[in-house]
Amino acid sequence: MKTRITELFGIEHPIIQGGMHYVGFAELAAAVSEAGGLGIITALTQKTPKDLANEIARAQDMTDKPIGVNLTFLPTLNPPDYPAIVKTVIDSGVKAVETAGNNPQAVLPHLKDAGIKVIHKCTSVRHALKAQRIGCDAASIDGFECAGHPGEDDIPNMILLPRAADELEIPFVSSGGQADGRSLVASLAMGAEGMNMGTRFMATVEAPIHENVKQAIVEADELQTRLIMRPLRNTERVLNNAAVEKLLEKEKTLGDEIRFEDIIGEVAGVYPRIMLEGEMDAGAWSCGMVAGLIHDIPTVKELIDRIMEEAGQIIRGRLKGFLAGGMS
Ligand SMILES: Cc1cc2nc3c(=O)[nH]c(=O)nc-3n(C[C@H](O)[C@H](O)[C@H](O)COP(=O)(O)O)c2cc1C
Repeated sequence: MKTRITELFGIEHPIIQGGMHYVGFAELAAAVSEAGGLGIITALTQKTPKDLANEIARAQDMTDKPIGVNLTFLPTLNPPDYPAIVKTVIDSGVKAVETAGNNPQAVLPHLKDAGIKVIHKCTSVRHALKAQRIGCDAASIDGFECAGHPGEDDIPNMILLPRAADELEIPFVSSGGQADGRSLVASLAMGAEGMNMGTRFMATVEAPIHENVKQAIVEADELQTRLIMRPLRNTERVLNNAAVEKLLEKEKTLGDEIRFEDIIGEVAGVYPRIMLEGEMDAGAWSCGMVAGLIHDIPTVKELIDRIMEEAGQIIRGRLKGFLAGGMS
């Protein structure tokens, strides 16, 4: 399949693996790229720029195909050493970067000068227009369904994608709630040039996370996610568990008085325990409503091939059949 996104990143299939804290390691990113998509290493999971350089090099040893790096700009008082991280990414020879969180304007000129294509993750049309204005090459439009931070507008992709298509000139992918060939065809129909997946890629053989996490995703349905930190205007969609219930209870009790310090035990530094040790109630972890569409743990290649096969069948069969007057 050829779209503006496959052309932009030099990939075979219009499928991107979104950056994921403590999931986006070399093994997953390389598997996605090797299968024809765009795999993404999550920069902030690496403790130092040197560790990040090693992680990118490990992925590059596993595949000759393009890989990308996710740079998440956190709203924090003690930011990581972003200039050193950006320099590491540029020096690594990577040609794709997914930016997320705060406005990436400060780092954009450095990335562009190095010939890196930048896709910015946006949860609203106004953010996507801003990304376009400052020179991003593409946008990843993250609907309310998504795992992680959906923003505060609560607009699902059925509305957000066509709205983005009406306004944007740069190409964009759908993100949030995407799982299969149906998702891809629907995304293309609504104006996207491909799709980005997070939760779906966690439940794959190559995702280097604990089996308990993969099983939790397979077992969950679309009703099991919760929104946390809404009172702090830092809303995050996570899978429900004992820690999340405790956190939501605090939100209820403390109301507008709640501060980040009140919930630090449930959210800070919990990812290694969950993703690597499989301690499923250690804290809150991002997971999308799309869990309801995930029933197995295939290899990344099986997953991507299946998506492309199913998308082709829908376009050539079901949709063409409607035009021909059939009722398939
Ligand atoms: C466990 C997990 C961790 C994530 N961490 C990040 C992150 O560090 N930075 C980021 O930009 N997005 C992060 N995301 C969001 C994904 O990149 C992607 O936008 C989202 O998962 C899309 O929704 P979906 O899960 O419904 O496919 C994370 C998602 C998950 C599931």
